[in-house]
Amino acid sequence: MVSLTPLQYRTDAATDLSRVEEALREAAKTDDDFLTEVASHLIPAGGKRLRPAFLIASALALDPAGDASDRLTEEMVRGGVAVELVHLGSLYHDDVMDEAETRRGIEAVNHRWGNLTAILAGDFLLAKASELAASLGTEVAELLAATIGRLCEGQVRELQLIYDVTRNEEQYLQAIAGKTAELYATSCRIGGIVGGAERDVINKLTEFGHAYGMAFQVVDDILDLVATDEELGKPSGNDIREGVYTLPVIRMIASGDPVKELLGGPLDEKTRDQARAAVVNGPEIASSIETAQNFVDRALSTVEDLPATPGMQGMRDAATNLLSALNR
Ligand code: IPE
Ligand code: IPE
Ligand code: MG
Ligand code: MG
Repeated sequence: MVSLTPLQYRTDAATDLSRVEEALREAAKTDDDFLTEVASHLIPAGGKRLRPAFLIASALALDPAGDASDRLTEEMVRGGVAVELVHLGSLYHDDVMDEAETRRGIEAVNHRWGNLTAILAGDFLLAKASELAASLGTEVAELLAATIGRLCEGQVRELQLIYDVTRNEEQYLQAIAGKTAELYATSCRIGGIVGGAERDVINKLTEFGHAYGMAFQVVDDILDLVATDEELGKPSGNDIREGVYTLPVIRMIASGDPVKELLGGPLDEKTRDQARAAVVNGPEIASSIETAQNFVDRALSTVEDLPATPGMQGMRDAATNLLSALNR
């Protein structure tokens, strides 16, 4: 399950990320051995470390010599750890919401230690993220705090429409903007800030992150339908099971397809498989891939006048390659 980051913003991005990794493990340590164990659980299990990679790539976006290892600063590392900790804490809470049994190919925290422990450990990770962000100045601290708020708003928007067959595209897009795109936007923004970029560049990097994040969640939602547990390292088909109707499902219902009759509440396994198969075989998968591609195109166009530095090129390539996970 340990994955290579899909963002190769320089030939040896892995060396930068190993510094983030070390600091990340350190940040999850506490005086209490049990809390340390729980808070550290998912770190060695894998994960793509995309948010820290985008933060560092954004910080190097205007640096023509960004391919050299001495360009990585302590601030970039700390920023990277902060955004990864927000992501990690949100996964702890998300797995409670989704009643997930696995994450990153191992047992999910809630499944192993129960919901209460998972919630507290998730809170702890978010608190650690805030502490690190504060060390980067008030602007970054405020930004990260606001992002955690947006994340909660997005998750609550989703929660309010669980099992709701009237959920529409606008509501879906609003929820994923909060729960996923905002953290990508903030990762790129903090990168621009610690990298000392001008405001208009910082804004473009932020917009790139937001559009990338939208595409990322649409792809994750398609993968939930079309991929296997083994491929994902987390339970596939979980969105329909939990009543989270994502873009392909919303579109299929809107088309008047009889799949609607199967949905609207908890399902037995057979009916769930039937609903999932209907969506997988329908034209809504392709149209959702197209929507993801449009977000990728939007991401690319926001940075089109920025130079082809190693950092910027890595970000463009990551966006261009995002949909390759679906070419199967
Ligand atoms: C999973 O994010 C949660 C979503 C926003 C879909 P990632 O796919 O980045 O998870 P890891 O960090 O690689 O495990
Ligand atoms: C992303 O949504 C959750 C967060 C942004 C916290 P999902 O519920 O789709 O994420 P996975 O599929 O469980 O990783
Ligand atoms: Mg989930
Ligand atoms: Mg998902």
